[in-house]
Amino acid sequence: MSIASLASSAIRRLEGKVALITGGASGLGECTARIFAKHGAKVLIADIQDDLGKSVTKDIGNGSSFVHCDVTKEKDVEAAVDTAISQHGKLDIMFNNAGIIELPKPDILDNDKSDFERVLNVNLVGAFLGTKHAARVMRPAGRGSIIITASVCSVVGGIASHAYTSSKHGVVGLMRNAAVELGKYGIRVNSVSPYVVATPLAKDFFKLDDEGVHGVYANLKGAILEPQDVAGAALYLGSDESKYVSGLNLIVDGGFTVTNAGFCMLGKSE
Ligand SMILES: NC(=O)c1ccc[n+]([C@@H]2O[C@H](COP(=O)([O-])OP(=O)(O)OC[C@H]3O[C@@H](n4cnc5c(N)ncnc54)[C@H](O)[C@@H]3O)[C@@H](O)[C@H]2O)c1
Repeated sequence: MSIASLASSAIRRLEGKVALITGGASGLGECTARIFAKHGAKVLIADIQDDLGKSVTKDIGNGSSFVHCDVTKEKDVEAAVDTAISQHGKLDIMFNNAGIIELPKPDILDNDKSDFERVLNVNLVGAFLGTKHAARVMRPAGRGSIIITASVCSVVGGIASHAYTSSKHGVVGLMRNAAVELGKYGIRVNSVSPYVVATPLAKDFFKLDDEGVHGVYANLKGAILEPQDVAGAALYLGSDESKYVSGLNLIVDGGFTVTNAGFCMLGKSE
């Protein structure tokens, strides 16, 4: 599905909503920002890449804007949420999407504590701070949708580093705990867990071209996971179509995590 076809749906599924997207200057966050805006949302991008973030929001238009925000710094996250309130009077959707990855070192003895903490700080602490400050402003409103970008690494091991895998398992725990706590305020909390998508992060990590690793490792053939597929999942979770969905880790992986490719008896030709 192209971005244009996903965005050109006759129904604007986020009309009147305000969305804050961390890591929205690039990759999955950028694509989601564009699609949210096409569906009527006012989008605030929060990222550390100021020039890129500003150029994306300029291109999107539709009342979107950029705020510098390092998700590891509570003051930045607090200020980004407050910017949404001062600009638009409310926050309907918080998309905690900013993340980093690092090359795995196969031997745990070679893994430094500082590297582990750096990844956890962005991927997990950042999502915690975003969830906390979104809850602060959503609670009085009695509604809101908080979404966290996890990964297939939230449910299986061995694909990425100890730090990355731990951080993505961690955000699903955070998501579930927050969904339980915040349900009484009408706030839904969910996560999206993509398989490999050829964004700058993944291309650099896996040394991918745009076709990704889909031909080799993917379970589902005949389709390639693209940023707009992940944005579509976030669109669903941000919209009222998912009004009774909370505590869900929505895995967008073509069935990758429900099989064991090395020991699969099904679908093999004679
Ligand atoms: N691309 C994939 O294959 C894939 C698969 C599963 C999950 N993910 C997750 O998707 C999310 C987005 O990744 P992507 O592939 O779009 O990568 P990307 O590198 O294109 O985008 C990540 C964005 O996060 C921003 N960022 C990094 N550190 C930050 C910080 N401290 N504060 C604020 N912003 C920060 C970057 O500047 C960048 O704009 C990440 O959480 C990643 O772990 C990606």
